[in-house]
Amino acid sequence: MQLLDIRNLTIELDTPHGRYVALEKFSLKMSEGEIHGLVGESGSGKSLLAKAILGITDRRTHVRADRLNWNGKNMLAMTNRERRQLMTNEIAMIFQEPAACLDPTANIGSQLIESMPHKAETPWWKRKSEQRKLAIQLLHKVGVKDHSRLLEAYPWELTESQAHKVMLAMALARKPKLIIADEPTTGLETATQAQIFRMLEKMNQLHNVAILFISHDLHSVGRWSDRVTVLYCGHLMESSSGKKVLEQFKHPYTQALLNSSLSSQLDLTKKADLPALRGAVPLLQHLPVGCRLGPRCPHAQKECVKPPVIRTVNGHAFRCHFPLEQETKS
Ligand SMILES: Nc1ncnc2c1ncn2[C@@H]1O[C@H](COP(=O)(O)OP(=O)(O)OP(=O)(O)O)[C@@H](O)[C@H]1O
Ligand code: SF4
Ligand SMILES: [Mg+2]
Repeated sequence: MQLLDIRNLTIELDTPHGRYVALEKFSLKMSEGEIHGLVGESGSGKSLLAKAILGITDRRTHVRADRLNWNGKNMLAMTNRERRQLMTNEIAMIFQEPAACLDPTANIGSQLIESMPHKAETPWWKRKSEQRKLAIQLLHKVGVKDHSRLLEAYPWELTESQAHKVMLAMALARKPKLIIADEPTTGLETATQAQIFRMLEKMNQLHNVAILFISHDLHSVGRWSDRVTVLYCGHLMESSSGKKVLEQFKHPYTQALLNSSLSSQLDLTKKADLPALRGAVPLLQHLPVGCRLGPRCPHAQKECVKPPVIRTVNGHAFRCHFPLEQETKS
């Protein structure tokens, strides 16, 4: 069953220099239980897209779309209350900076309990102990051993890794249909990264939860996802099955991401440049004419000053005048 159906979603931002398009005519479909990887360098519009899906953009951000449907319902026509309900019951988000998203005035135990759906059948005198039991179970599920200390701790007392785990536990508490995980493993030690991947995988396999996984690391995400979409400067550059994007990629940008990822040079922390391409990601107010990758692309030709359109061949979408051809492995 189809959960998310986005067609031609555009996000514009008001800045002191004027209004700029940060994401242009972006389309995405996700079904129940699907894992979709969304990959691109810093500033490509990944987090803005996640916020637009959740309806949590600020006043400077303007979202329009031909279609933005959840379970067949138009999200753009929903009231604030309906949108909040959707976020409480069906879509959970793991934010890129989890510590900043937790309430600094409440301890983790009460925030975890707050995120649990209310069970009307539990008598009130049992409710508190049941909720605490569930909070402990959730913390164990996300790999926290020292639950007593964590339940009493305040957000500012947590390490980044602990804050990530708490956000994940809060997401699990709601038993959502879709988890949007915005770089949930960035900045974490390798063992914790692997643990988070395993946990999301388990949620996906046991409960058929769909996952929109946002990352810089195409190689890891591609191996794990049913479908992958590559974004650059607010444009979809390539989208196909994880296997096709890794093995039969057609876009020079995908190739550059993979080269960086595979040669383990990928430490694309904020605003870092992609070593496989010359230059840096342009600012929104200085986007090149024609193909957005043009000035950085090793395959650019005269024709590339005209904007390439998205072409789709056997479910494999790409935006390039001169798509790459990979040798098919026998
Ligand atoms: N509230 C805002 N006001 C102005 N510009 C913004 C705002 N939010 C995002 N932007 C700009 O929009 C573009 C896309 O931002 P976004 O946060 O979606 O990038 P991203 O792909 O998530 O990057 P990263 O990998 O660094 O998280 C960037 O150029 C960013 O500077
Ligand atoms: S359209 Fe041209 S500049 Fe753009 S990615 Fe393709 S070859 Fe490179
Ligand atoms: Mg982001």
